[in-house]
Order: sequence, then C-alpha cells, then structure tokens
Amino acid sequence: MTQVADIARAVPVAIPNQLPPAQEPTPVLTPPKPSATHPKQRRQTSWGKTHSLTQNGAEVVASLTDWMEAEIVPMLKDPSTNWQPADFLPDPSSDDFLARVADLRARSAGIPDDVLVCLVGDMVSEEALPTYLTMLNTLDVTRDESGASVTPWAVWGRGWAAEENRHGDALQQYLYLTGRVDMQAVQRTTQYLIGSGMDPKTENNPYLGFIYTSFQERATFVSHGATARLARSAGDSVLAKLCGTIAADERRHETAYKKIIGKCFDLDPNGATMAFGDMMQKQITMPAHYMFDGKSETLFKDFSEVAQKVGVYTARDYADIVEHLVRFWKVEERSGLSPEAEAMQDYLCRLPARVSALGDRLAAKAKKKPGRQSARFSWIFNREVPLL
Ligand SMILES: [Fe+2]
Ligand SMILES: [Fe+2]
Repeated sequence: MTQVADIARAVPVAIPNQLPPAQEPTPVLTPPKPSATHPKQRRQTSWGKTHSLTQNGAEVVASLTDWMEAEIVPMLKDPSTNWQPADFLPDPSSDDFLARVADLRARSAGIPDDVLVCLVGDMVSEEALPTYLTMLNTLDVTRDESGASVTPWAVWGRGWAAEENRHGDALQQYLYLTGRVDMQAVQRTTQYLIGSGMDPKTENNPYLGFIYTSFQERATFVSHGATARLARSAGDSVLAKLCGTIAADERRHETAYKKIIGKCFDLDPNGATMAFGDMMQKQITMPAHYMFDGKSETLFKDFSEVAQKVGVYTARDYADIVEHLVRFWKVEERSGLSPEAEAMQDYLCRLPARVSALGDRLAAKAKKKPGRQSARFSWIFNREVPLL
C-alpha cells in the first residue's frame, strides 16, 4: 500500500526556497463588510506581519514530514469506532425519544445561568471551526495546498478538524434539547464569529502556529474539564460525561501539537526559543475574541469574566499553561543558543512566575475596585449574570 510519506516525497510538502518574503504589517485597503463582522474588527487599521518563517525554519519543518506520518497522524482516531455526538443524545428513531428528552430536560434544569453561559461560550468557540482550519492552512510549508492533499500535515489538519467538528455539534444539539438557551441568539453569535475569523498573530509561520495550537488545545482541555465538573455538581451526569469526553480529545490534540514543537526545539533550539518567546510576548489571543451577538460589543469580555468567576478558565490557568509548556519543551535546559535566543530563554524561564504574579495583582485590583457587577446575555434570554 502506498504510504502517505511516499506520496509526500514524490510531491514535496513545500519548496522552502519559494517561501514568500517576510512582510511587515500592511494597511487595510478595504474594511470588511460591516454586516458580517465584529464592530471592533471593522475599526482595525492594520494586519499583522506575514510569512515570517525563515529558510532554516522551513527546512526544519519540511524535514519532519516522515516523522509526522509515523508519530502524529496515527494519533487520529478511526471514525468507525470513535465517539459521535449521537452517543450522548436521545435517539430520535426510538419509541421512547420524547421520554428521553424529558429526562435530559429534567437533568439539565438545575444548571445555573453562569455555567450555561460558559457552556454556550465554549460551544460557540467550537462551532467556529471553519476559522481554525483556515488558520492551519495559512501556515507555510504545512498547509493543505489542494484541499485534499495527502501530505501528513494536510491529513492531520483535516483529521483534526473532523474530530473537532463533533465538539460543537454535540454541545449545540445537547443545549438545544435542554430548552434552556435562546438558540436563535446562540446561532447568530456563531454566524458572526465565523464571519469575523480570528487573528492569532501566527504570521503564516508553523512554529508560531503550532505553539498557538499547543496552548489552545491545553486551554480547551482545562475549560471543558472544568465544565464537566460543574455539570456533574449541577446534577447532569450525561452532560458531564460529554464535556469530559471532549476534554480527552483536546488533551490528545494538545499532545500532538506539543510533540511537533518539541521536535522543532530539538532540531532548531534557537528558532523554537525565539518563536515561543515571540508568541508569549504577543500573548495568546483566545480564538473567539471576535465573539458578537449583533448587540453586545463586550460579549467576549463578559463571557470571559463569567468563565473566570466560575473557574472554567482563569488567569491562574493561563499561568499554569505557560509554566507547563516551558517545562515540557525543556526551555531551561536548551544549550548552545545564540545571544538573542539566550536572552529569550531567560525571559521564558522567568515568565511563569511573572504571569502568575500579574494574575494575582489583577485579581486583587478587581476586588478593590470592582467594575460592572453583572452582564446580560442574549444567549439566556437576556437574563443577568453576576460578574463578581
Ligand atoms: Fe474542541
Ligand atoms: Fe481543540
């Protein structure tokens, strides 16, 4: 049988000397159509830097192609045996469908509004999956050049997206059946978010792109795990199991992306250290930062504050992820670095303590000088949710 790597060798994943030159931020010539995007995005005046991958970096990433096929592609699950959203939902073809829906509604009746807001926010973030595959396919060397390319990078990207697609589907169908959320408002938010896209500041650079996905997959593992615990304590064990199952997928994806960057660190410690430091200095923007329901410009901020309040995703989690990645990629132990990379290594090794202290300071400041006490969410029929 022809292996993916054989085809990849015949059709190289990238021709490094044809990398587009790095470009500085470009002014926006035509603002996006107002109707489809977040208002903040309409006011944006520049795009970020593009195509920052170096020639050496391109060669390093291209050299990982066979390893990618052997080690990472097999981490994808077989769709014939993998879990599906239907496994967690009442079977509409069964005679007791309506009774099962009634059970589901009874189970979910006790979920507090703040947890519902977190579930919806997580679900909308998952539903913007077209954006995330687009983002993966902006990356030089690894992008899927045809839409059905058989390079291990492209096979992984599509397989990853296909697995992720179940997350939004499952949560949306579950939440629909609970009758607890305004589905029109929720679906409108998803449409806006996909229309807005995202700006992870990854510059078409696979080093930056896979550092970003390593961070994000871990963040989603943390947040789905936390919603699982909250759903269980609110009395919905099926929803808890669903969130826990999603969290397990996120953890597997996190492992894959971290391994890719681990390889970059081994082969190109200077480039990987600089890239990791660069992403940390820019800070990791959440994928749903352009979230908008057509009314509230502060929707994402409000959702993030509720998530922080109930412990679904907190400043402490951000600091823990930074610390975990610094340790996992053995940043401190990397030797023979250039003076520039050595300075970045120093910055990265001090970063977990700094981020964690900053989180504590911000929390103390918020306590002393509280801002808004609550926010209304269209997702739950404009009910008010405390932010503090
Ligand atoms: Fe996901
Ligand atoms: Fe994910």
